Amino acid sequence: MKKTFCVAIDGPSGSGKSTVAKGVASALGFFHIDSGAIYRSLAWWMERQTESLPNLDCFTYHIVEKEGKFFHFIGDIDVTVEIRAPYISQRSSEIARYSQVRKRVNELQREIAIGRSVVIEGRDIGSVVFPNAQIKIFLTADIDERARRRFEELKLKGSLNPLEEVKNDLIERDERDRTREDAPLIQSKDAVAIDTTNMTVGEVIEKIVTLAKIERAPRFWKLLVGEQRSGAQTLYKIVVFVTYLIYRALYRFEIEGLENYPEGAAIIAPNHSSFLDPPAMGVACPHEVHCLAKAYLFKNRILGWALPRINTHPVMGDGSDLGVLKKIAEFLHQGKQVIIFPEGSRSKDNQVAPLKRGIALLASMAKCKVVPVKITGAYEAWPRGKKFPKLWGKIRVTFGKPLDWKDYEIRSPNKKEMQILFTKDLEESIKNLGVKEVFR
Ligand code: DC
Repeated sequence: MKKTFCVAIDGPSGSGKSTVAKGVASALGFFHIDSGAIYRSLAWWMERQTESLPNLDCFTYHIVEKEGKFFHFIGDIDVTVEIRAPYISQRSSEIARYSQVRKRVNELQREIAIGRSVVIEGRDIGSVVFPNAQIKIFLTADIDERARRRFEELKLKGSLNPLEEVKNDLIERDERDRTREDAPLIQSKDAVAIDTTNMTVGEVIEKIVTLAKIERAPRFWKLLVGEQRSGAQTLYKIVVFVTYLIYRALYRFEIEGLENYPEGAAIIAPNHSSFLDPPAMGVACPHEVHCLAKAYLFKNRILGWALPRINTHPVMGDGSDLGVLKKIAEFLHQGKQVIIFPEGSRSKDNQVAPLKRGIALLASMAKCKVVPVKITGAYEAWPRGKKFPKLWGKIRVTFGKPLDWKDYEIRSPNKKEMQILFTKDLEESIKNLGVKEVFR
């Protein structure tokens, strides 16, 4: 199936969503879905039903695209114009409070989006309907500006409603959309907020189209220009870039579960079975990361110069001494992300070995998240005991849902007991990731 792309644009009424979403869809050649229009169509339909609780499965809705314009149909009735009436604005916001209504509208949106790249606008698209959208935007604008825009729009359609009334309607609707229990209007954490108060429509469209183009660009390009690595040293960026190209060419390198990847201080905890693991992790992590390497490697002149420049820090012995723990804790306190292989050393048989407790100790010291990661295919390409790697294979890195020390801390005051449980859960999570993998 062809790879599809989703741009989710959320925001309150009058923030410019519709105009912007249409512009972005047309610039990218994507299909435009206006979820508000579906709520409006449903409100229009419910007004015409005799039962007070009609069967929502009987509500059919589809979009017809004609010469770049979108028309909204219920059965064979074109309701495009009627659903913009002010009474439908209020009714749609009222019915949107009900979970059954939201469920039905969500189903319709997901059906329409199947197999196509879309720009979808609404209130809960990035947070509920398409939480995996590649681009999430949250548009805002101050209330007077939003009221002015809606007033101009209605005036063009022949409405005589005074500005003050339009503004009050918006305030009332905002309040209802923000405070309803099911899927209220909120900015999801990973959405990019754009305040459109002093921006032209063209500027907003351009900004979103640029974000989408960067996101759709080949990964190697993002690795070099992506914002996340902008603070990194040049050598770090070059090494990540070259490693990516090599891994892609030789090992058909793939990364999964990036939606689980956290912001801020975190320990990234992969299984370890091959020398190919550390570079794979450096490339897979979307943010700049730090890692540790045995101190003797730093005695070599070239490595001694290069390793610190690619965020690799020396550790003595097996890495369980206090000095190392302190160093990592310091990184975490600075909000940095550190890769630690919690098994301690490379597995001899590709099975995940019992994890060392140091990682739970660190998580409890820094009160941070730990991301379980499974690397598959690296052992097949270069297992322990072999002098050279095979130059062909398939390596995949899968990020799992992070474990948060804070969740364990509140479960019991017995820190040691919680560290044991944390370690056990982390081990289980790593084991269960990417198990369906088949290697060819
Ligand atoms: O975007 P709009 O003004 O056309 O939306 C009409 C109403 O539909 C809005 O007041 C709340 C509801 N709505 C919603 O609850 N969730 C969405 N994703 C889109 C619209």
